[in-house]
Amino acid sequence: MASRKLFLLPGDGIGPEAMGEVRKLIAAMNEKFGTGFETDEGLVGGSAYDAHGQAISDADMEKALAADAVLFGAVGGPKWDPVPYEVRPEAGLLRLRKDLALFANLRPAICYPALAASSSLKPEVVEGLDILIVRELTGGVYFGEPKEIIDLGNGQKRGIDTQVYDTFEIERISGVAFELARTRKNHVTSMEKRNVMKSGVLWNEVVTALHKAKYSDVKLDHMLADAGGMQLVRWPKQFDVIVTDNLFGDMLSDVAAMLTGSLGMLPSASLGAPDAVTGKRKAMYEPVHGSAPDIAGKGVANPIAMIASFAMCLRYSFNMVTEADKLEAAIAAVLDDGLRTRDIMSEGKTEVGTSAMGDAILAKFLALSN
Ligand code: NAD
Ligand code: IPM
Ligand code: MN
Repeated sequence: MASRKLFLLPGDGIGPEAMGEVRKLIAAMNEKFGTGFETDEGLVGGSAYDAHGQAISDADMEKALAADAVLFGAVGGPKWDPVPYEVRPEAGLLRLRKDLALFANLRPAICYPALAASSSLKPEVVEGLDILIVRELTGGVYFGEPKEIIDLGNGQKRGIDTQVYDTFEIERISGVAFELARTRKNHVTSMEKRNVMKSGVLWNEVVTALHKAKYSDVKLDHMLADAGGMQLVRWPKQFDVIVTDNLFGDMLSDVAAMLTGSLGMLPSASLGAPDAVTGKRKAMYEPVHGSAPDIAGKGVANPIAMIASFAMCLRYSFNMVTEADKLEAAIAAVLDDGLRTRDIMSEGKTEVGTSAMGDAILAKFLALSN
């Protein structure tokens, strides 16, 4: 059997609570279907800082690099607000993305039929929604240099972040978006701010040129990113695949999350380039949400984003498409049955905690697999 090495990084806050539900799925799959997942676990974020003063250790980075896929929970929290910027919890996540060269972050926003009434938008606006945000993840203002605070010496300081994109970075992320669009509704919307940013001008040029050269069968639209945010809440079903930079992708995917009912619903896959010899991609699967300090430790977090991230792992890292489909169907079925964690609770439904939601999805998944 092919190697199936998973490296689990539960992290902080609700990260470990959500990861616990995935651990149950992995154990059940190994036991019932002989899937042969080998798991190892490490520390990231505040929990890593508390243990050894770094947001992720070199030893755990080595394990992440050697794994077939990394499953990531969430990092951060007020406890670590005072720690130095270089070792803040979020630095561990950024190092993983950068060192594993995970440039393509796929953030699907699907509104499950049972949740159409849970969104803050009208049901007809979100019903049947199925969009995919393709966020560039290793460039832009997150990593551009200089990035510093300098003392101007007159009682003033200057904070500097630098937005940088090279042609190859825009080409490879838009290539991923075009390829994925071909498997969906064949429509890409590229979002930037070419009206104020030079990187936006280049982004637009490169996407347009690649489209002309290789993907003219795909419908391509360009939208200014601020207008894109507005259109996402006005009529999100106009979109199929959205491709955008690191920062806009971060913000637009939180907006898209609320279309689906809750941040606790949105999974993501962060993928590297296929290896020239083996064709395998480095990959990390991470919910879009954070450590949710306001509900951490209470057993009420929604584990669906983490479980759906594992479904993406089955699909993209192990080509276990049937299992991924069944796991996603199990999530939909449990929602149809009326089970809800607090964040997606509505009248007449049954409120359950993290663990009961995970158990119900596991039971449905096993039933669908028989
Ligand atoms: P957050 O995503 O942690 O929480 C925002 C809101 O959504 C909160 O009210 C929270 O309770 C709710 N929420 C999020 N996930 C949920 C879930 N699974 N179930 C139920 N409710 C859920 O964002 P924040 O409060 O802005 O950030 C908190 C910390 O998390 C910060 O330190 C931030 O840097 C970090 N963060 C980490 C990641 C990550 O690890 N990938 C992502 C975003 C934010
Ligand atoms: C996300 C998060 C991260 C980001 C933070 C925690 C570094 O908000 O994954 O959406 O900004 O990319
Ligand atoms: Mn974010």
